[in-house]
Amino acid sequence: MGKPKFAMLLLWVLFGSSIILHLHVEAKVSSRLEREIEAKLKQLNKPAVKTIKSEDGDIIDCVNIYDQPAFDHPALKNHTIKMMPDYLLESGNSSTGDEEPVIFQTWLKSGSCPKGTIPIRRILKEDLLRAASIELFGRKPPQVFNNSTNDFDLKANSFIPENRSSAYLVTMGYNYIGAQADINAWNPKVTQPNDFTTAQIWCKNDNNPYFESVESGWMVNPRLYGDGATRFFAYWTRDSYRSTGCFDLTCSGFVQTGQVVLGGALSPISSYFGPQYSLNVGLFLEPYSGNWYLKIKNNIAVGYWPANILNTLRHSAILVQWGGQVSSTNIKKVTPHTKTEMGSGHFASGRFQSACFMQKVRIKDYSQQLKYPQYVSAMSEEPDCYSALNVAEYGKDPIFYFGGPGQNPIYCP
Ligand SMILES: *[C@@H]1O[C@H](CO)[C@@H](O)[C@H](O)[C@H]1NC(C)=O
Ligand SMILES: *[C@@H]1O[C@H](CO)[C@@H](O)[C@H](O)[C@H]1NC(C)=O
Ligand SMILES: *[C@@H]1O[C@H](CO)[C@@H](O)[C@H](O)[C@H]1NC(C)=O
Ligand SMILES: *[C@@H]1O[C@H](CO)[C@@H](O)[C@H](O)[C@H]1NC(C)=O
Ligand SMILES: *[C@@H]1O[C@H](CO)[C@@H](O)[C@H](O)[C@H]1NC(C)=O
Repeated sequence: MGKPKFAMLLLWVLFGSSIILHLHVEAKVSSRLEREIEAKLKQLNKPAVKTIKSEDGDIIDCVNIYDQPAFDHPALKNHTIKMMPDYLLESGNSSTGDEEPVIFQTWLKSGSCPKGTIPIRRILKEDLLRAASIELFGRKPPQVFNNSTNDFDLKANSFIPENRSSAYLVTMGYNYIGAQADINAWNPKVTQPNDFTTAQIWCKNDNNPYFESVESGWMVNPRLYGDGATRFFAYWTRDSYRSTGCFDLTCSGFVQTGQVVLGGALSPISSYFGPQYSLNVGLFLEPYSGNWYLKIKNNIAVGYWPANILNTLRHSAILVQWGGQVSSTNIKKVTPHTKTEMGSGHFASGRFQSACFMQKVRIKDYSQQLKYPQYVSAMSEEPDCYSALNVAEYGKDPIFYFGGPGQNPIYCP
């Protein structure tokens, strides 16, 4: 009579204790993660002198300029901030751009930061939880080339990096100490949670498996920022995104000096056959210091990548690219192709008011003159998904169009 009861009791005890054990293990894991997250947040979010709540949901902390994340970098322990030299600010004057309505950052509607502080977008716990790992937060996947094939056609493809698709204008053959362009601003759709899409300038010291790069432009990156807004970004790497560098101020390195929020949303945005807006972005090396300075709208300083975090790039870049990149695991023969858009989401052939463009494309070499590059080529890694077209008409400044819809039934299944 007592036997089944006893068995039941035993079962309950076993079952119950296994639940308790399970809970205990889970609690242990989650408390470790909690601690890691807390530590990371403490490291990234420096004490604020003032906090501004932007209408787009961002929290902007005004942080003392010498308290910013850059100074956590071992190479920047005794670093003295070097504001952008005046001559670099003036070099933007060749653009007129006055007719265009002004793009600005949404948070500025809600306030500004006091003197001696810089505005930094606060990182939240949710932001870290969306990342593949805390370690990989704020970083692009490494640039890896696939050459596990003998097939000639695929061999050519092996110089195309995995999990990325780009359409760009490129110049090489000289030592470049600056590059700029007016980047047309759009809001392309990102359809897979881990994809992102950029419109940007790259200044690189090489294009081989190991390169250094400083980059800036706009981006839609829901995994990093938590929404589909078009945001201004900066990036750097010393080893083709493998272990150094990051977006914005999500790691230490970039020294912010200006009142522009890295990762801050831009508005207004261009519309199809409607008004067009663009943001002038310039990256300039100051040869004496070896710092790469970043500025927007011709004369607004953002900050710089100090020479201390760079290798040969501190002397010059040997390659400049202007264009778009989609980062996704569903590209290049992986079907279905991602539907994440590049640029405006329309092909380059649509041209003005349809395709995304870059105009006033300029480089600077040691002659210190800002000029249109001598040799350029327009390239696309998947022209049926995202295309590139440089329109150079006689007597007119060339305009580079790029982008596309990604997956489409006829050409890019
Ligand atoms: C920073 O300055 C301190 C004191 O002047 C010095 O001892 C230290 O070596 C410096 N560190 C670096 C990385 O330059
Ligand atoms: C830059 O533009 C400003 C305002 O238009 C003008 O006053 C200044 O002289 C220009 N500088 C150069 C170097 O052209
Ligand atoms: C590399 O290329 C081979 C041959 O095309 C392919 O089978 C393999 O999946 C590729 N590897 C990756 C990681 O994409
Ligand atoms: C890819 O090819 C390059 C150049 O031929 C070679 O140096 C490299 O070792 C190859 N990488 C792999 C992973 O096979
Ligand atoms: C590319 O994506 C595939 C599929 O998710 C993944 O296995 C691979 O590691 C990725 N390659 C790189 C270089 O991130």
